[in-house]
Amino acid sequence: MTAPNIDVHHLLGLAKSAAHEAGKLIVGRPARPLSTSTKSSPTDVVTEMDRASEKLILETILSMRPDDGVIGEEGTSKPSQNGLSWLIDPIDGTVNYLRGMPNYSISIAASDDKGTLAGVVYDPTLDETFAAIRGHGATLNEAAIACAATPLAKAIIGTGFSYSSEQRAQQAEVLRAVLPAIGDIRRPGSAAVSLCWVACGRLDAFFEAGLQRWDFAAGALIAMEAGAHVQGIDRDPSHGNLVVASAPSVTLGLHQILGTR
Ligand code: 2AM
Ligand code: CA
Repeated sequence: MTAPNIDVHHLLGLAKSAAHEAGKLIVGRPARPLSTSTKSSPTDVVTEMDRASEKLILETILSMRPDDGVIGEEGTSKPSQNGLSWLIDPIDGTVNYLRGMPNYSISIAASDDKGTLAGVVYDPTLDETFAAIRGHGATLNEAAIACAATPLAKAIIGTGFSYSSEQRAQQAEVLRAVLPAIGDIRRPGSAAVSLCWVACGRLDAFFEAGLQRWDFAAGALIAMEAGAHVQGIDRDPSHGNLVVASAPSVTLGLHQILGTR
């Protein structure tokens, strides 16, 4: 069901203000070491700030739109009463954040029965807000963005590795095939930001296996609206669980190497 009478610009504004509030909260982290616990594996950490950020975003959105559904990485699961749902990643790139490195983000997407309707990824260390509305293009700090047109041999391609050591061994094999064919690799650490970097042409492509919907919902829309090809977000089993976002100039060659075409 598509939620009736939705002002999508209002949704985007709400997502931006929630992301900016959460950004202020997490950047102003306490000086003491953050308390952590682990999730899927010893390297999959969650901090008290992940939880605080999710709570703040939830309160901001539900105070304006109490009937919407919400799914958040840190455990929020509220069904929608009107066909509109939010997907929240309160800190994407938690390992960077925990270690005081840049490249983490807040990712917020609103979805209806056709998929992601609007999305925001906010990088508080660079004060960069990436945003998109389905069918209306993508922006970085309110200016329109478009993906690059680099040939594969010169392409800078982002990726990410699993928290599981067995899967990382397989991912190393994939890199053996990819590296000789491209310009270079980056491993930034936030899938949401990496997708946005494809959108604005900093990266020519990004691929990562094992992502969750809240990692890519907003970033994938932003990449698509900037002209990138995005595969793997529909969870079609023939694509495995690999999300690939690519500038059209590298799509064919990259998918041939990855074996996903
Ligand atoms: P997170 O920081 O919210 O956990 C790191 O490679 C990127 O992948 C981050 O965006 C990280 O999100 C995300 N990610 C999600 N699930 C993952 C998994 N099972 N293994 C590795 N990275 C994962
Ligand atoms: Ca995440």
